[in-house]
Amino acid sequence: MQGTPQPPKLYDFAPRLNTFRTDVIQGLQRPLKELPSKYFYDEIGSQLFDQICELPEYYPTRTEISIMQRNIQHIASALGPRCMLIEYGSGSSVKTRQLLEQLRPTAYVPIDISRQHLLNTATELAQAYPDIEMLPVCADYTSNFTLPQPSVKVARRIAYYPGSTIGNFDPNAAIRFLASIAQTCGQGGGLLIGVDLKKECNILHRAYNDSEGVTAQFNLHLLERINLELSSNFQLDQFSHYAFYNPTLGRIEMHLESLCRQQVHLDGQMVAFKLGETIWTESSYKFTLEEFAQLASEAGFRIEQVWLDTQQLFSIQYLSVE
Ligand code: AVJ
Repeated sequence: MQGTPQPPKLYDFAPRLNTFRTDVIQGLQRPLKELPSKYFYDEIGSQLFDQICELPEYYPTRTEISIMQRNIQHIASALGPRCMLIEYGSGSSVKTRQLLEQLRPTAYVPIDISRQHLLNTATELAQAYPDIEMLPVCADYTSNFTLPQPSVKVARRIAYYPGSTIGNFDPNAAIRFLASIAQTCGQGGGLLIGVDLKKECNILHRAYNDSEGVTAQFNLHLLERINLELSSNFQLDQFSHYAFYNPTLGRIEMHLESLCRQQVHLDGQMVAFKLGETIWTESSYKFTLEEFAQLASEAGFRIEQVWLDTQQLFSIQYLSVE
């Protein structure tokens, strides 16, 4: 054995300003209170999310992994050789490993806001795949950041955006975000994306109201994070997890409902809650194949291939830049 390999160099574009503080205060001052769902993912939140992915009721992760497994060769050949693979929000790496294994890209660019998580993953992957150039980027992937240059010329840039995280954006924001990916990847580039599909609403309901209460914990943890980082005094037992499918808008909505009239102190300010008032913490849009095709085309992509599970719960789609 040689000595421990050097961890990959990190490209750091993490925000210097405390955007968490201003986003939280602004969101809670709105007439309809809301908090950005991207703030779920601190260390504990990311662990809770990993637990959600293991739940029997939470079908997306399992289904996406099985679609990957069944079609990995087709997927790899659609993406083609010698690419630079750019993963938006590289979190935990089961699907990524499957893809790296088969695709063998020239370079891999995992982008994540959680610096330690990112470094750990990149270090592990660098050991497992010494032939792939690892270029980890610490950034809020919805912000502007500069893509690192691989040391070898690549055939194309391919973005990877699994997990149906695209569903967290409102439709217009989703189009803008996909359009920015199209620009990043450029002519000849592509996007491999996981997209959750519309289905019987009981299945959706159970996926976001699991019997073990992990999703409730995940949702409530956001208040705990605010208490810790902004020294506020949210009483977690005075709020409850509330998630439902909104069929008109085609999305799951997650809220935190105030169980009484109460005041919370935060950053020298007071936030008042009525009984039953909610903080909207997440939307998770679900798509028909036609709806997603429309969205993709408005963002400047053409759908090349769609892979589904037998029950058509979830899709993996390969889009090329128009
Ligand atoms: C990571 C955004 C895909 O919307 O299903 C899981 C997050 N929220 N359970 C989703 C989530 C509640 C998840 N995404």
